Amino acid sequence: MAIKRILAALSIIFCAAISAGAFTLTDGRDCRSLGGQWNYIPDPMDTGIYKYHMTLLKPHARFFADRHFFQEVNSKIEYDFDAAPTLRVPGDWNSQAEKLYYYEGGMWYRRTLDFQRVPGKRWFLYFGAINYKCVVGLNNEILGEHKGGFTPFWFEVTDVLKDGGNSLVVYVNNARGESEVPTVNYDWWNYGGITRDVLLVSVPEVFIKDYRIRFDGSSIDVEVFPDGGSAPVTVEIPELKLRKTICHSEPRSGESVSFSFTPKKSPERWSPENPRLYDIIISCGDDKISDKVGFRTIRVEGDKILLNDKPVFLKGISVHDETISPNPGRCRNEEDVRALLETAKDLGCNFLRLAHYPHSEQMVRLAEQMGFLLWEEIPCYWNVDWTSEETYANAENQLMEMIGRDRNRAATIIWSVANETPRIPERLAFLRRLIEKARAEDPTRLVSAAIEKKWAEKNHAVVEDDLISLTDIISFNQYEGWYDGLPADCDSVKWTIPAGKPVFISEFGGGARYGLHGDTKFTEEYQALLYEKNIRMLMRLPGISGFSPWILKDFRSPKRPLIGIQDEFNRKGLVDEQGRRKQAFYVLKDFYSK
Ligand code: GCU
Repeated sequence: MAIKRILAALSIIFCAAISAGAFTLTDGRDCRSLGGQWNYIPDPMDTGIYKYHMTLLKPHARFFADRHFFQEVNSKIEYDFDAAPTLRVPGDWNSQAEKLYYYEGGMWYRRTLDFQRVPGKRWFLYFGAINYKCVVGLNNEILGEHKGGFTPFWFEVTDVLKDGGNSLVVYVNNARGESEVPTVNYDWWNYGGITRDVLLVSVPEVFIKDYRIRFDGSSIDVEVFPDGGSAPVTVEIPELKLRKTICHSEPRSGESVSFSFTPKKSPERWSPENPRLYDIIISCGDDKISDKVGFRTIRVEGDKILLNDKPVFLKGISVHDETISPNPGRCRNEEDVRALLETAKDLGCNFLRLAHYPHSEQMVRLAEQMGFLLWEEIPCYWNVDWTSEETYANAENQLMEMIGRDRNRAATIIWSVANETPRIPERLAFLRRLIEKARAEDPTRLVSAAIEKKWAEKNHAVVEDDLISLTDIISFNQYEGWYDGLPADCDSVKWTIPAGKPVFISEFGGGARYGLHGDTKFTEEYQALLYEKNIRMLMRLPGISGFSPWILKDFRSPKRPLIGIQDEFNRKGLVDEQGRRKQAFYVLKDFYSK
């Protein structure tokens, strides 16, 4: 049942769900974490929403009512959150309970919260991500819904919160769908649930909803988006001795206040070698936020990628958003992403492809502090429903939410709109719109998509795709030595690739089970030889500007059932799910160290 239909009839009382622009979460925000143990009730048949003939329940009977919480007893009520087990939030449900390992369907989450109103304040409920779609209810009022498993959203709850006890009930459904983004078929685990932070954010009546900073190598432009009224706006970058105040006439909501600075002392450029960040402080009336921002430029010139006007070679690795641990799951916190980043740093990387969907804000911010350039991607993966306007709107919304969240992060240099999509007219039209939207929203970064190569004839690989004319770099995935031929065949493959743009290999690699030795596929030795041969082959390509081999760590996938070898893990990692390093890890590390 489409969420839309649920909402359409759930006598929705929408609170002001901020949709335009982002809701910047920065230092200085008064955030109360609502993480912890939430009660949960699996609901594969949406019994908490529908009657037996699939007509909608009345508000008092739906699970959003959380009837037992209000101490009303009614024999027709057949659920009780207080008696239900709990899941840790943030966190996917699959990795927390054996019976939920494969679960795809409806799930109810409930937590209660005590609250005390403070005059002159406003409150927002902020969700870092919920996979895949959800409806959020507070005190049995529906705040709204969201679709897309990897980007943040929020609702104003100032007029819904009650002093004393409140009941927050979230309906989540991670069922895959033909017209969803991603569609029904993808090579990673369908981790469902409230997978990232839930925060109750308190702000003054007039507050800074968002800001945007841009640096073009000489001037620094800052756009501030006040919400709730007007007040003088001050922007300050103390280390650059920059400070300016603008008293804005009555701004209409969504209107911004623009500042342009030409610092006398040019800022140190952010780079992987020197991930230099500066404090920016923005105030508006009673509101004051601070953030840490980096100043760098990124552009393409011919077949070179220029970072701060110098050619850069992207020593990358691809990464899924999954913990390194005996029991992997979605990364939940900074500690989880730090484990991945420290492994990538030890590998000698200066670049990460955050595949195949937006990773957490913690991942992006910590990568920026540690010195990684980032490729960020929305999950238009393999074959989505290219002819559905609803599917396009969903993809575009996920793109806008990703850009809205991370556009102030110097580390992010590439927005990617797709991975390995079929060369058909409907797909080109769909992706052309997304690319135009990305460029309009953020003209300061590169736009890409991972395409596929094809064989012209044996040993002659061709990279050609109409997408190439629309993207800033030529990115493609190739699996010579794994899906195609043997590692030794790399020595004789001839490549035909369009000239004039940087060439970036967004995936290559092969599988190995840690500790399995020999010379056949899935042994560590085979994987190591495959890396040696691929690196040598790819470094011969004109315009080669880097690669992000597939992949840092073995990751769960239901498409990899080979018992004893895969055991529902894709084994192309350079480390296994426990972080144990395979021989190929050292092959790539050695190459990147040179
Ligand atoms: C594809 C795809 C990856 C997948 C990989 C593989 O290129 O982009 O998501 O995991 O190949 O087959 O292992």
